[in-house]
Amino acid sequence: MDNRPIGVFDSGIGGLTVLKEIVEQLPGEDIVYFGDTARIPYGTRSKETVVKYVMESFNFLMKKNIKAIVIACNTASALAMEEAQEKFNIPIIGVIEPGAKAAVAATRNNTIGIIGTEGTINSNSYQKYIRKQLPSAEIIGVACPLFVQIVEEGWENSDVAYLTAQKYLLELKEHNIDTLVLGCTHYPALRYTITKVMGEKVKLVNPAYETAKLTKNILKEQGLLNEKIDGGICKYYVSDDPEKFKRVGGNLIRRQIESVEKVDLSE
Ligand code: DGL
Repeated sequence: MDNRPIGVFDSGIGGLTVLKEIVEQLPGEDIVYFGDTARIPYGTRSKETVVKYVMESFNFLMKKNIKAIVIACNTASALAMEEAQEKFNIPIIGVIEPGAKAAVAATRNNTIGIIGTEGTINSNSYQKYIRKQLPSAEIIGVACPLFVQIVEEGWENSDVAYLTAQKYLLELKEHNIDTLVLGCTHYPALRYTITKVMGEKVKLVNPAYETAKLTKNILKEQGLLNEKIDGGICKYYVSDDPEKFKRVGGNLIRRQIESVEKVDLSE
């Protein structure tokens, strides 16, 4: 049993959809969440820049005496996971591998769509992990950068969201996919709109559930699990505008976020 908190990291608010799942599956764990809101989006940046931002963010989290880090961000998982695992000597869990596993389990016709940021789609990370488990899979990846802004505005169920989804998802419809990975932490908020465009038969995979499950297994295996059945505390830190984080983040997970502290990563 290890009482130290788990670090959860994202470029902004999106990782809260993963945090929510971790809280449900690991209710006794304390969590330190860091959202790099001063530098979001990561999804349009180069690998080099994302790696640098992730390292700086993890240096901050390490000061909070954490026992593991969940990279609750697809872009950071896709571009900086290996570098982070090399540098930090604690378990580091990303969302891509568990998300790929869930997609392979869900598909029946071996035709899988992935939507995410440009960084995630162009990295081919999901494609690689899916192919490892299902070599015959047909995989179509589409970057949907505007989705992040739509969710940040709270417009996920609007006409704007619907028209944007129609345009982005057209190619996926033409390929007759039966499974669609929501490969960006903001996208679960667009679930309803995406289903409206893709139809009820396409299964939407949110990697958050499998990520929380994997986190629990890894902590258990390594004797790090906090076995308390509830009472875990979440602390939130951001690199910019705590009020916006409370408002937009609270809306994203339909939960009130009480207190958020702004930190300066250069200190
Ligand atoms: N959280 C990021 C992800 O899951 C999306 C936002 C960003 O571009 O930073 O890819």
